[in-house]
Amino acid sequence: MEKHIVILTGAGISAESGLGTFRDVGGLWDQYDLEEVATPDGLARNPALVHDFYNARRANCLGAAPNAAHVALSRLQAEWSGNVTLITQNVDDLHERGGFDDAIHMHGQLMRAKCASCDGRWDAPKVMQHDAPCPHCGAKTTRPDIVWFGEMPYHMDAIWAALDEADIFASIGTSGQVYPAAAFAQQAAAAGAATIELNLEPSDTARHFQQARYGPATEIVPNWVAELLEQTPG
Ligand code: OAD
Repeated sequence: MEKHIVILTGAGISAESGLGTFRDVGGLWDQYDLEEVATPDGLARNPALVHDFYNARRANCLGAAPNAAHVALSRLQAEWSGNVTLITQNVDDLHERGGFDDAIHMHGQLMRAKCASCDGRWDAPKVMQHDAPCPHCGAKTTRPDIVWFGEMPYHMDAIWAALDEADIFASIGTSGQVYPAAAFAQQAAAAGAATIELNLEPSDTARHFQQARYGPATEIVPNWVAELLEQTPG
């Protein structure tokens, strides 16, 4: 029977592309107060600061290239005979530029904008202005289309359904500190999936995985994909 692989990625997969992680030493949440830049209250208090933060991250992202780990997951999607569902917490577009079709962006996307008033969505310009009017309703309440603390991640129905039918669940480059993503390994294991963590070091949820590979994503992800494609018929 064809096996369904479900993969969760976090900031660690994009670290070697030059995009900062959040909780490693010197990471984004060491440099910025997340209450100020990643909450609806922060936007209400200081929209210019919030847009500056995401404009800088968008510029970093546009200047970055997908790495061998992103490309390996695209190879897996192309060559695995079963389904491969990729759920990412990342708001960058490196999975897409690395060739993966239909990654599920549960925390939104840097390259998309939305209106806090009418919920309209559109492609974000390179530099978003905090006082630019919404192209749908005209309100000056535009924001990046990113899920902030206290908000509901996107596509959760599709994600829980994929986890329930996963045969293999892999978590790559995520610290396991943010829910609901941190609960996915247990959910998949309860549904019968084999679970594996791929990370630089054991994450906070390492005990929930049956297997682990530790090292830089650009090494361990291509190796894992090559082994899957060689050893396990899809
Ligand atoms: P974190 O910064 O919390 O964790 C990054 C993980 O990547 C850590 O476990 C590192 O060990 C690992 N890592 C770092 N470099 C690596 C490398 N070269 N190869 C492999 N692993 C590496 O980032 P996330 O878990 O993605 O949410 O954070 C989850 C969410 O918290 C983010 O989506 C963001 C943040 O607040 C929102 O903004 C809503």
